Amino acid sequence: MAKIELENISHSYDPADMPDEKKTFAVKDMNICWEDGIASALLGPSGCGKTTLLNIISGLLAPSHGRVLVDGKDVTFLSPRDRGIAQVFQFPVVYDTMNVYDNLAFPLRNEKRDEKEIREKVLKVAEILELEDKLHTSPSALYPAEKQKISLGRGIIRENTAAILFDEPLTVIDPKRKWSLKRKLRNVQKVLRKTMIYVTHDQHEALTFADDVTVIKDGRLVQKGTPEDLHSEPASPFVGYFIGSPGMNVLDFTLTEAGMDFGAFSVPLSPVLRDRLGSEGAFQLGVRPEFVQTGSEERQGAVPFTVAIIENNGAYRIFTLKNGDIRIKTRVSEDILAQEGEQVWAFFPEDKVKVFKENRKVY
Ligand SMILES: Nc1ncnc2c1ncn2[C@@H]1O[C@H](COP(=O)(O)OP(=O)(O)O)[C@@H](O)[C@H]1O
Ligand SMILES: [Mg+2]
Repeated sequence: MAKIELENISHSYDPADMPDEKKTFAVKDMNICWEDGIASALLGPSGCGKTTLLNIISGLLAPSHGRVLVDGKDVTFLSPRDRGIAQVFQFPVVYDTMNVYDNLAFPLRNEKRDEKEIREKVLKVAEILELEDKLHTSPSALYPAEKQKISLGRGIIRENTAAILFDEPLTVIDPKRKWSLKRKLRNVQKVLRKTMIYVTHDQHEALTFADDVTVIKDGRLVQKGTPEDLHSEPASPFVGYFIGSPGMNVLDFTLTEAGMDFGAFSVPLSPVLRDRLGSEGAFQLGVRPEFVQTGSEERQGAVPFTVAIIENNGAYRIFTLKNGDIRIKTRVSEDILAQEGEQVWAFFPEDKVKVFKENRKVY
């Protein structure tokens, strides 16, 4: 078990002798600390540097700049094996020439453990992963989900593993098995209490697996916090929009004496919030679809919108509302009978909105 720290990590795939100012950096000056035993996720869109960062942590890649510390010890230039970090890749790595038992035993045989100990550990891991009845099967006869469980088993079987990293491990799994395997992983983490870092571009996977989520974008750390923090206090419009489905509505406005001027319409502000925001200028309003209060009747401070699209998702409905070139999404209750093309009123409650300036949260 281990605490993992990144200190000023930057990485470029360009030749080392190229001057830094000419290089393209896939990872830019990252400072992150993962506490011991935590279930954590690294979340960001494709190409944002997740795999690069994971490979730097595991030791498959030496960073251009910065240090990796495991329990305070500098491991930046140690091999993956010597830093005790296991990695499970997007595509399962299993040996088809060995049965499941031997696949699981492989890391321990490499360490020259005795067969009695190996047997105990293989049986225990097989039990955790529900592979007991597959031990004498060849992996070639198994589903991708089961093969991925073998990869996972090989990741967790060594007791001295400090941490386990998963790089989009559910990519090859069909949707039906995805969720059960993810739950399994979550349970394994709870039982073993090992530091796990789960990489994904899928916010649902990240938020349901991890207690702690690190959002990255364009090679930079954007925000690190609990799923609740990211949802309720997004540090930037990007996080607001990226987390939640649908994501946060983010609308540009100009702060005026009277309130918020969105171009197509204006919304009054309380004196308290008006003072908080201070100087006039360009801001962004963030409001989650579930917090927009939508009604058929006009009310003080509400804005008229036309219902552009109604999506019925069974449990609730999402309306896309339009006013001029502004579109917002709102989650509405059953008692609103408005149809597409009709008018409704949307109200943004001040205690639920966020305000951003230059991409940072100011309220
Ligand atoms: N081996 C490589 N050589 C050159 N560029 C790479 C290499 N691997 C990744 N990149 C680039 O680095 C950036 C980050 O990639 P990656 O870490 O794979 O992102 P992610 O895993 O978030 O999709 C991308 O722009 C990608 O094109
Ligand atoms: Mg990747």
